[in-house]
Order: sequence, then structure tokens, then C-alpha cells
Amino acid sequence: MIKLSTLILLLAVAAIPQDANYDEAKIPAFVLPDPLICSDGAKVTDSQTWMHKRRPEILALFEKQVYGKAPDAPVIAYDLLESDARALGGLATRKQVRVYLIGDKKGPFMDVLIYLPNKTQRPAPLFVGLNFYGNHTTIDDPAVFITKSWVRNNKEFGIVDHRATEASRGVRASRWPIRRILRQGYGLATIYYGDIDPDDEGRFDNGIHPWFYKKGQTHPAPDEWGSIAAWAWGLSRAMDYFEADDDIANERVIVMGHSRLGKTSLWAGATDKRFAIVISNNSGCGGAALSRRRFGETVKRINTSFPHWFCDNFKKYNDNEEALPVDQHELIALMAPRPVYVASAEEDRWADPRGEFLSAKYAEPVYQLFGLQGLPSDEMPEVGKPAVGTIGYHIRSGAHDVTLYDWRQYLRFADRHLHEKGMK
Ligand code: GCU
Repeated sequence: MIKLSTLILLLAVAAIPQDANYDEAKIPAFVLPDPLICSDGAKVTDSQTWMHKRRPEILALFEKQVYGKAPDAPVIAYDLLESDARALGGLATRKQVRVYLIGDKKGPFMDVLIYLPNKTQRPAPLFVGLNFYGNHTTIDDPAVFITKSWVRNNKEFGIVDHRATEASRGVRASRWPIRRILRQGYGLATIYYGDIDPDDEGRFDNGIHPWFYKKGQTHPAPDEWGSIAAWAWGLSRAMDYFEADDDIANERVIVMGHSRLGKTSLWAGATDKRFAIVISNNSGCGGAALSRRRFGETVKRINTSFPHWFCDNFKKYNDNEEALPVDQHELIALMAPRPVYVASAEEDRWADPRGEFLSAKYAEPVYQLFGLQGLPSDEMPEVGKPAVGTIGYHIRSGAHDVTLYDWRQYLRFADRHLHEKGMK
């Protein structure tokens, strides 16, 4: 008789993808596309040519082949649903703003939860990031509204029938050290990503997509936006609101995201230059990690498990990474000359920490066109020893998560770059 514990172990092992490679020696030989060679073969030797010729080419390739093109920015509308100038014991001003994504108050909306520091001058610099389970999960603040959008079920968080409940208030607070962020002089804004597009596999009949379909359309075209592009587009709509709020320093907005939402923060930073600093936490495949390494999660694997994240064209590169006209170091390079930070976790091998480091490193030649230091380390830094230039990178101990250690580095990174620019 097979023991139950053995059976559970066998089932767990069976759930681990058998095709995932974790052996550096088994990485296929590959050649990365050169960010500094234009499609007509011309070499980029100055920042002007990068900005006006090569950058638009790379951006268009990512749009067409990887994430899909999002619609042009609509004129948004918004309502201040609630505010409190003495929130969190007087530490912050809280605002909850409903942003109507297509400008129509009868149309789709997302709720933006904002805390601004009371002790420092306004307008305040701001971190913005999407969250996985609803704004009320990010802090133990009873005034935060509970989303009515579809939420992934999670028994531990009290989420059943895809509805968030009071039981999940504050359950993700460890990922959002809001009081600490405020004490360091920054505001924090967060939005539930499912308000923009529910992360329910393969469906494109709900969320933001249908609002932009042409007559008769039921699915995005092969080069049109998947869910990551939709979430990133939502971040840009939040930015539209920040520009209208005099309490927010809209030229000092830092976009941060974890995992699939780290892929999203990178794509938001690439498509919207208004984000002054871009941070990717454990973003892995389709985020900071180089696709051609095929280490941990691969293009085929991600397109199979999450067919709605990228545009349909991206599926052409399943088991065919070398045919990709771009790789993820060029995504990082699209941030230049803005500061960008890539963070890995030692146990998060699924996201390929080394591939994340190499992407950040190989973006460096583009930063050098601007006379900027890229990533000041030729080798992968040791665990717990960040390497920080205009490109920052760290690998911390532990698992796939966002920790206080990560936030400490992001705050330091933001301080350093805003100081350098005389902006803080
Ligand atoms: C899965 C997925 C990753 C993703 C992660 C997350 O592990 O394979 O690509 O980053 O989920 O978003 O939590």
C-alpha cells in the first residue's frame, strides 16, 4: 500500500514541469540581438539616434511580437470617492480615487488607493504598483474599500466565489511597508490589477479589452494587447490622474511591480516615459529574464500556462526563442536614460535570477550612450550585495516574494537618483 504522504509527494513532483531546465551547462548557445544595430544595419553611436530611430524600432517589435499594442490614451474622468487628511494616526493623507478608464462614468473603472506623507512638502514623489488581491489587502486600514471585481479564489485569504471579503484586509501588508515608505518622504499608490483586466485564463470577454473591440471582434488581434499590456495601460491611466493631482509630483513617479506585475511595471516603463524610475521585482520570464536562456520558465511554458498574458504573436516563439527579434535586455534598455532596478531572489529559480542580472547588464551599452554608468558589476553580485548605478540589481536570500529588504533597496535607489537630479 502506498502511504498518503508518499502519494502527495509523488503528485507534487508530477506538478513540477518536467521540461524546466535548472542546469547552466544545459543552456543552449545563443546570440542576443544587438540593441545598438538598427534594422537597416546602421550602428547607433549617440543618444539622439537611440531615442529617435532605434528605440522606436525596438518598442514596436515588443509591441507587435510580445505584449501587443494597447489603444491610444483616452481622456479619463475621475471621482474622489473618499479622503482623510489624518489617516494612519496622522502620518498620511489617504485618497481613494475612482478612475474611469475610457472617460465615461458609466464605463469601466479602477480604484486608486493613495497615501501621501503629511510631514514632507507637497507635491510628494510617489511609488505606484498594482496588487494581486485588492487594495484592502495591502494595509490594515479599515477605511480602504473592498473591490467588487473578480478576484482569484484563495481560501487562506478568505476569497471565495471570486469575491474579496473583509477577511483579506491587510493579508498582503508585508509586501507593502506603507508606513516606512511614508516616513521616508514618499507617497504610495496601489491599484487592484483585476479592476483593469481580470487575470482569468484565456478570457477576453471581460475586463478592459471588449471596450475597444471593433464591430464583431471577440478577441484581440495577434498583435493587439494581452493582459500584461492592459495592466500596464491601466498604470498609465493612473499616471494621467497623478498629473491632475497637485499633491503628487508627477515627474517623480516610480513604478514598481512583483512577478507578473513586475513584467507589467517594465512594460509600463517602456511604453510610458512619464514613469521616472522603473522597478522589477522577481519578474522572470517575459519580464527581466532573457528568453533565450530557456532557464526555469520558458516562452512555451508561460504561453501555455497563461495564454492571455502576451499577444498571440508571442506564441510563434514557443520552443523557438532564437527567432525572437528582441530579447529582454532590450526591454530594460527602453528605460534609458531613466533609472531602472531589477531584483531577484535566490530561491526563485523559476524566474532565472542570472538571466535577470544579464538582461540588466546587457542594457548597459544603451545607458553609456547617455554618458551614464550602467550596472557597476561585470559578475553577478553576491546574495545581499546590490550593485547600483543608473541600472540597479540585487539578489537577496529567500523565495519569490517582496520583502522589506527589497523595499529598502528601492527607497535608497529612488533617494539617490532623485537627489542627483536635485528632485529630493
Ligand atoms: C507564475 C508564472 C510567472 C509569474 C508568477 C507570478 O509562477 O509562471 O511567470 O511571474 O506566476 O506572477 O506570481
